[in-house]
Amino acid sequence: MTSFTVNGQPVHYKMDPATPLLWALRDASNLTGTKYGCGAGQCGACTVHLDGQAVRSCQVPIGTIEGSFVITIEALSRDRSHAVQQAWVAENVPQCGYCQSGMIMAAAALLEKNRDPSDAEIDGAMTNICRCGTYPRIRRAIRRAARVIAGGETIAAAPPPGIDPGDAAHAVPALDPGPAQAAPDRRPGS
Ligand code: FES
Ligand code: FES
Repeated sequence: MTSFTVNGQPVHYKMDPATPLLWALRDASNLTGTKYGCGAGQCGACTVHLDGQAVRSCQVPIGTIEGSFVITIEALSRDRSHAVQQAWVAENVPQCGYCQSGMIMAAAALLEKNRDPSDAEIDGAMTNICRCGTYPRIRRAIRRAARVIAGGETIAAAPPPGIDPGDAAHAVPALDPGPAQAAPDRRPGS
């Protein structure tokens, strides 16, 4: 058993200690906002915060983070009010969206360390991959979030998402087993 805190909740995972954090979060905790891209530490789609640092959760065996504190995209804020989330909406950053939770978590961690990053510093820190090429908008959104954090700009609240963020992880239809299905009849001619 491996124990650590996820989004403020103590969790005990009865999983192989070698299990990547990504799969503990997605499969055991149903926190599907954290995405699987490459599984090789390259793309950053799986980025979460581990003790305040942006990490690629596909590369972190849960057995190595006993007692740690993990934050996923679901808990970056309770109501999409984090400056990065506000700026992301205001700049219409996402295209297909697949990389975006990892991008947002990486951007939030960057702004914790550097409140006014230059474009070069953003490019150096944001090594996540976006197959849709949203990099210019990501750069603009990070600069804008920095201004919001500094108090130099306010952004009107984004429209409510229509679902309580606290319930979002439990509202993934693909994970609802639904009523038991009868096995299909595989006999010839059936
Ligand atoms: Fe983890 Fe790509 S899925 S870095
Ligand atoms: Fe599509 Fe980044 S928005 S992969």
